[in-house]
Amino acid sequence: MMSRRILILFGVIWKLEGCGADGCELAELTWGGVWGFDGAMDTTGGIDFEGLWAKVLRDYRGDPESIHGPAHWRRVEGSGLQIAADNGADADVVRLFAVLHDSRRVNDSHELKHGELAAEYAETLRGKWFPPSVLKEERFAKLTYACRWHTHGKLSEDATIGACWDADRLDLGRVGLIPEARFMSTRLGKELAGG
Ligand SMILES: [Fe+2]
Repeated sequence: MMSRRILILFGVIWKLEGCGADGCELAELTWGGVWGFDGAMDTTGGIDFEGLWAKVLRDYRGDPESIHGPAHWRRVEGSGLQIAADNGADADVVRLFAVLHDSRRVNDSHELKHGELAAEYAETLRGKWFPPSVLKEERFAKLTYACRWHTHGKLSEDATIGACWDADRLDLGRVGLIPEARFMSTRLGKELAGG
């Protein structure tokens, strides 16, 4: 399996390219979270996240400036990867959750079905963007479960699902709510929420 090294530094996700005896070159990959993380982790190769983000943004029917929109997705990605570095969550699933989980919203109201719609949307994207050869069924099942249930206030003992939900809930400040440790599933999620 191909592997790619990424580094999250000062809230920006970098990719390490051309690694050799003299080290690696840094290239900015995307905006990360707001938590100021300087860890590093491996992510499996094979998913074109930049292309997927462009596709999801083309399909998105909500307001680009929405509190649940792309800027929120990026913050979820950043803090989700931070949690993944701490608890061993599946970084690719966390990143897929970040870009997909609110992408079927059309407004900022209490749209309870948007998680289910996000899971269905993931099914339509799977063949081209993360087929079974890249993301095996067990990993894909975690993605769709995390999307489907992310609005229902559940907790999870699964490291990956917990990282997804905590990353989303850590950004509750966007709607004027303070994240609470009792609604977090992971150790780091609780710590970041002040618990
Ligand atoms: Fe969200």
